[in-house]
Amino acid sequence: MIFLVLVPHTELKVKKANIVIVGATGNVGREMIAVLEERNFPIARLKLVASEKSSGKFMRYRGFSQGVEGLSKEIFHGYDIALFSAGEAVSRTWAPVAWESGCVVIDNSNAWRMDDEVPLVIPEVNPETIADYIRKGIIANPNCSTIQMVMALSPLDKNPHHYGIQNIIVSTYQSVSGAGAEAEARLAEGSHEFDVIPQIGEFLEGGTCEEEAKMIRETKKIMEKPHLNIVANTVRVPILRGHSEFVLFNFDYSYISIEVVKALLASAPCIKLTDSYPIAQDAVGTDYVLVGRVREEKISGADDNQKWFSMWVVADNIRKGAATNTVQIAELLWNGYLKKASN
Ligand SMILES: NC(=O)c1ccc[n+]([C@@H]2O[C@H](COP(=O)([O-])OP(=O)(O)OC[C@H]3O[C@@H](n4cnc5c(N)ncnc54)[C@H](OP(=O)(O)O)[C@@H]3O)[C@@H](O)[C@H]2O)c1
Repeated sequence: MIFLVLVPHTELKVKKANIVIVGATGNVGREMIAVLEERNFPIARLKLVASEKSSGKFMRYRGFSQGVEGLSKEIFHGYDIALFSAGEAVSRTWAPVAWESGCVVIDNSNAWRMDDEVPLVIPEVNPETIADYIRKGIIANPNCSTIQMVMALSPLDKNPHHYGIQNIIVSTYQSVSGAGAEAEARLAEGSHEFDVIPQIGEFLEGGTCEEEAKMIRETKKIMEKPHLNIVANTVRVPILRGHSEFVLFNFDYSYISIEVVKALLASAPCIKLTDSYPIAQDAVGTDYVLVGRVREEKISGADDNQKWFSMWVVADNIRKGAATNTVQIAELLWNGYLKKASN
């Protein structure tokens, strides 16, 4: 005999969120719209916001044309989550305004990343920290170059054998799309202003530039290792999209082998390990962190008990480095943390 259980239609419905995107017309904003659509995020209402100069423009979401509006206090009323990618100044001023309306902010800028009351989240690495959003109503998305490096280092650091990463030396090769839509358009049009430039952001005291400082402090916060030694050298290169990194590192335990390092990387979610090397074009349009050329380094004079390894790490800076990471956080928030808080 077959019993049919009738479930009321309303119970089958997925609860849908009202979402605001601030910076919708930019490189990251446009990709966030695409990723929300691709991942079928349950959206009831989507509001697209940019600067006044874009007010009245139209963008497409799920085949429909949708108007872009400027920022005001009222736009957050009745919305659940705001995805911000309009730069640091906008985030500093407007993220607290959104939260006053009960709208949780996931912010792509540098504005809140190092605030002790704001979680800095990579969903594959520290998803549980999302719960801390309740303190300020803000969750920060790390810098693009930090995300891909920590994605590759974290499975090595948090391993079942309890070896920990001790020192990191990283050199980046970052695409022009990381400098925003206008810079990318100038490169695409053939401007000759671009070269291999070992400076991203202003220089700080001591000669480090802002991008390097971000990689250093954000990595320590996400990996919860304040005493990690990190040397970073960040370089802008004249390619349109996709960041590459050479990462040299060692462990606080000496006897880890190259085979174990490769096995840990091979079994990590969202990492694709190859025997040769990936290039930026391989990563464009994907959400994977691609790792290749993993090898043991013989460093003359280094302590014999300290084995060093290196790897080549590539990712799409606009997707996993920004938009996809943000949408993944929004999914975790909407499907768990936000509900738990309102229970
Ligand atoms: N690109 C990356 O690889 C990457 C990765 C991680 C994080 N981020 C961060 O994400 C943010 C956006 O980067 P992006 O590359 O998308 O920059 P972008 O292409 O220059 O886009 C900036 C966006 O912000 C909007 N905007 C600027 N001023 C505004 C204002 N006063 N009010 C409202 N909207 C305003 C712009 O609107 P209009 O079009 O109207 O000017 C545009 O939508 C930055 O904080 C960046 O550091 C970028």
